[in-house]
Amino acid sequence: MKNNMIIKNASQVVTCSGFKGKHGKEMSELHVIENGAVIIEKGIIQAIGKTDEVLKNIDESNYTIIDAKGKAVLPGFVDSHTHFVFGGYRAEEFGWRLRGDSYMDIMKRGGGIVNTVEATRGASKEELINLGKKRLDSMLSFGVTTVEGKSGYGLDCDTEIKQLEVMEELEKSHPIDIVKTYLGAHAVPKEYKGNEDAFIDDIIENVLPVVVERNLAEFCDVFCEKNVFSIEQSRKLLTSAKEMGMKLKLHADEIVRFGGSELAAELGAVSADHLLQASDEGIKAMAESGVVSTLLPCTAFSLKEEYARGRYMIDQNCAVALATDLNPGSCFTESIPLVFALATLYMHMTIEEAITALTINGAAAVGRADKIGSIDVGKKGDLVILEFPSYEFIPYHIGVSTVEKVIKDGIVVIDKAK
Ligand code: NIG
Ligand code: FE
Repeated sequence: MKNNMIIKNASQVVTCSGFKGKHGKEMSELHVIENGAVIIEKGIIQAIGKTDEVLKNIDESNYTIIDAKGKAVLPGFVDSHTHFVFGGYRAEEFGWRLRGDSYMDIMKRGGGIVNTVEATRGASKEELINLGKKRLDSMLSFGVTTVEGKSGYGLDCDTEIKQLEVMEELEKSHPIDIVKTYLGAHAVPKEYKGNEDAFIDDIIENVLPVVVERNLAEFCDVFCEKNVFSIEQSRKLLTSAKEMGMKLKLHADEIVRFGGSELAAELGAVSADHLLQASDEGIKAMAESGVVSTLLPCTAFSLKEEYARGRYMIDQNCAVALATDLNPGSCFTESIPLVFALATLYMHMTIEEAITALTINGAAAVGRADKIGSIDVGKKGDLVILEFPSYEFIPYHIGVSTVEKVIKDGIVVIDKAK
């Protein structure tokens, strides 16, 4: 029967059980069931436990059966920070950075994000849908079942809305669930150079109301950074977005220590992201206010910057999430295996913490920890089955995907064993 599935005999069911973000020490608790089974009905998880107990009194003929002997089962990964809808590429910038230019040097001389803005403004909706689909296919193959996607390559109202509409279309046609974020304040458009306050006012007066009225995005985000948008401008924009009913995210303390983490705590943002330069006070404030600290190690790797202080943040009781940051500039990758490798080897997170950060805490970072991110009764049947018997193989098989099957809403959508 459609969406009815039994997965049985799994060497491990790594439940990551929980319904909200996990802080500090809780991040080590994966709640593993050995020789486990999961029952999914109509796409929703109905039972979890030891195989013999769960299957007692169950008529298996009503279900698609997957024998996961010798394999570990985990929740589908949640990639909670991406910019996957964009036109054009910036391959030349990668070479410039290798020769010593910094990300901000390139941005200051008129390259960077605004180049992608030109290409995205010029791309048709169909082109963006086709490009977005390819990137989602790639993410799905890595075991991602929910992705957050941001606008921010239009900056003008029409193109921002076009990007959000592209995600709306893809959400209907692709197995991956998409959480949409409006990032209209991603860079200062040429039209507003030197007039940033007016740009923020324009967004508040003319764009946010349309986004909210048409329900085009759940979150509002801003690039809060020196030489981009100030703390005051970010506060003004996000306060208005919150008043209009949106949830908040920030690109915070990425390039310089700027106070974005503190601002995220002050405004009750759902997450603050990047955080390479977050201060001790900012980290404490995020931990205390329950802001998810979303770390993007592939970006630090790609920009050859110091990694965010993941270990310290967890020790300070933060809820840490990990994500790819897929975008055409600072980090062109959808590789979940690379995230795991960098988080464990260079950010000093344990394997358990990294898994929590890509499952239940990723779900918390998109405000959906009650529906996804763990194998719990009542949650969506979004799972991955590894080709290996334990979750430790995920970072151990360095840079290579260990995901054999991906199950979305109780249906097998990827099967590499076939
Ligand atoms: O998350 N830091 C700002 N935004 C993106 C990069 C966008 C781009 O370079 O196109 C980020 O790293
Ligand atoms: Fe980003």
